[in-house]
Amino acid sequence: MTAESSRPILCVVGARPNYMKIAPLIQQLARRRQPHLLVHTGQHYDDNMSGAFFRDLGMPEPDMRLGIGSDSHARQTAKIMTALEQVCLDKQPSMVIVGGDVNSTLAAAVTAAKLGIPVAHVEAGLRSFDRSMPEEINRIVTDHLSELLFTTEESGNLNLRREGIPDEKIRFVGNCMVDTLLQFSDRAKAGEPWTQYGLAFKGYALATLHRPTNVDGEDSLRRALEALAEIGRMLPVLFPAHPRTQARIAGYALKVPPVVMICDPISYISFIGLMSGAKLILTDSGGIQEESTTLNVPCLTMRSNTERPVTVTSGSNRLVGADRALIAASLEEIMGGRWKAASRPPLWDGHAAERAVDEIERWMKVKTA
Ligand code: UD1
Repeated sequence: MTAESSRPILCVVGARPNYMKIAPLIQQLARRRQPHLLVHTGQHYDDNMSGAFFRDLGMPEPDMRLGIGSDSHARQTAKIMTALEQVCLDKQPSMVIVGGDVNSTLAAAVTAAKLGIPVAHVEAGLRSFDRSMPEEINRIVTDHLSELLFTTEESGNLNLRREGIPDEKIRFVGNCMVDTLLQFSDRAKAGEPWTQYGLAFKGYALATLHRPTNVDGEDSLRRALEALAEIGRMLPVLFPAHPRTQARIAGYALKVPPVVMICDPISYISFIGLMSGAKLILTDSGGIQEESTTLNVPCLTMRSNTERPVTVTSGSNRLVGADRALIAASLEEIMGGRWKAASRPPLWDGHAAERAVDEIERWMKVKTA
């Protein structure tokens, strides 16, 4: 083994949507005996935002936990960078792999790039073209600092080329999060998790909301709850609410409509089982737009834009914002069986991580030749 090949690849996760994107890469690295280390920044720390996901996904315990926790964006990012810099100096990784668009992703990419360590970005190229979203800034910076950019859909390739990123850095490998979904979806559905909430298969709506634009202002949060009530006229709504959403509802003393069953965040396998069993999903999440398309469940996205346009053009997703009339019309289409059927986007086939690790190995061979 050369000195280069014995240096570990550092995989960095920090927040709920990272785990299912990085888990299949870790499986591949382990299978191929590529030395690797897993770092958890601690951006998310509650068991139902972190530990429960690790257990569900069968992920190994992180080799290092930075324990950063919640803070303002600048302070959280800076704390992750400070801690991760030391990890990189100690472990001398050959590459840092980051996923998605959370603050931990940005912090790890900046830290590694400044130390001259190549960065690989899983889920590169997505753009909402809305810089008021913190995630959009995280995506842009991370992509421009990365040496290998693993894209999930054609729009990502186009966005990166338009921003001047050379073709040889872009690898269209497909969707690693879908690898994980396909690995667990049958088992998740067989568990019939809806029965635990007294719900019937295809007899309920599933809702999640946590974007600052929907939950961080009293008026917008009230409108979002009204949208849930609108759906609740036709179907019971199960609403696993992010801690920030729960805190805002309490802070503004808003009433959750009685047709809405609010509960704490639900861990991965139960949640994907609940998605499969739902008649429809109402969300402002990025990942859920992709998961609902893969599961062919109608999805109404409470945003005015999406960085994942393939879920709208060929998937089961529609952008509804907070437009009650559009939500009501969509609900009628769904209940009347007139919703579009999703077709699976190219390379969302369960083998994206395999292709990504092939590309990493090829890249390393060239670099160390
Ligand atoms: C983060 C990501 C967002 C992703 C979301 C998924 C960024 C900029 N945003 O948003 O892209 O869709 O995760 O959940 O990185 N909190 C807890 N327990 C936890 C974690 C957070 O109670 O384990 C509360 C804290 O009050 C915290 C707030 O949630 O201040 C927000 O957490 P933070 O990680 O800053 O952002 P998210 O809203 O979770």
